[in-house]
Amino acid sequence: MPGNSFGERLRITTFGESHGPYVGVVIDGLPAGLPLSKEDLEFELQFRRPGRQYVTGRREKDEPEIISGIYEGRTTGAPVTVIFKNTDVISSFYEEIHYKPRPGHADLPYVLKYGFDNWDYRGGGRASARETVARVAAGAVAKKLLMMTGTWIAGYLTAIGKVDAEAASFEEALCSKYSPVRAPNKEAEGLYEEEVSTAFKEGDSVGGIAEIIVRNPPIGLGEPVFDKLKADLAKALLSIPAVVGFEYGLGFRAARMRGSEANDEIVYEGGRFRWRKNTAGGILGGLSNGEDIVLRVAFKPTSSIRKPQRTVDLRTLQPAELSVVGRHDPSVAIRGVAVAESMTALVLADHAIRAGVIPSVRLEKDQVGRIEEEWKRYRSACSPSACSPSAESQQ
Ligand SMILES: Cc1cc2nc3c(=O)[nH]c(=O)nc-3n(C[C@H](O)[C@H](O)[C@H](O)COP(=O)(O)O)c2cc1C
Repeated sequence: MPGNSFGERLRITTFGESHGPYVGVVIDGLPAGLPLSKEDLEFELQFRRPGRQYVTGRREKDEPEIISGIYEGRTTGAPVTVIFKNTDVISSFYEEIHYKPRPGHADLPYVLKYGFDNWDYRGGGRASARETVARVAAGAVAKKLLMMTGTWIAGYLTAIGKVDAEAASFEEALCSKYSPVRAPNKEAEGLYEEEVSTAFKEGDSVGGIAEIIVRNPPIGLGEPVFDKLKADLAKALLSIPAVVGFEYGLGFRAARMRGSEANDEIVYEGGRFRWRKNTAGGILGGLSNGEDIVLRVAFKPTSSIRKPQRTVDLRTLQPAELSVVGRHDPSVAIRGVAVAESMTALVLADHAIRAGVIPSVRLEKDQVGRIEEEWKRYRSACSPSACSPSAESQQ
């Protein structure tokens, strides 16, 4: 398979290139009856939008157009297709990159695999993170579907460059949407901004670590043996451009602990089993155990930087120097949080359908009611006014 599709029962296929006329997504496998509007998508898309401070200056409106699968505001069970027009395209920035592949980017591997003459170098072509706008649209649909089980997803940056923040609460993660650097609190925000600005002034970039929290996931999501929830999450998150690491629960820290420290101790409380420390990050045996799913992804620093770096001129095969001009994210991790949340939502919704927790064919009236009510609660919990009055002015 060519690898443009992801998911088993809820399957997305993305299409389009950075400087082509459109990018978009086909979402197949949605049950009929899900209320879905352009505005639902726009709510999530705003948190990945370019053209703000600390992110790329490319001013895309990211206006979604739903062109199939909806009748009178609800899904019909047919594929839902969402397209986005690419409006702010300046391909001249890429003339030099056509012959001088960027260190750290996909340029040279694409040339070597597909051939120089077949390579759409403009804006990074298919390798561009422009494609991730389609994932966030699909993620918004998955997030809304997950409202049926009362499952909410929120992410924030737990580190940017060399600056770490304290672990955040779920509410702080929700409200980090309004931080220009996806920080969980004001103190971290100031430090993150300084880290990004300093690197940017020096013609450089920084990486970051996103933490994604799934609140109230259904129990038992994940399939033995190869489609474990952890395995599908790992693939989903590592498929995001610039993601270089994935861990959940204790992650890499577990390797240095004793069993007595790392074990997730079991208690029976309030009529249900609980894992006291949630060191497993909500997944044991590849199945969700009902505790919050907590995962982290590491984003590398943006490869397109002004600082001159060595490469090779593809015309002469001689050494060359490249200083990347144009509009680039000084830290891809900032907009990457929305993408990571979306891929998490898609995996969970897919597995919820596979497990029969969410119907695969049609939602019943009471289920639609639950979704509408929960979506409203979610939207109000992460509205600017709920997050902080000052957040409203940042929008
Ligand atoms: C939201 C987001 C925005 C990105 N913006 C840029 C960018 O402006 N410039 C850039 O060089 N890379 C950017 N990237 C990363 C590249 O797309 C990525 O590094 C490249 O495709 C190579 O893939 P790899 O890093 O996964 O190997 C971005 C990634 C994400 C998730």
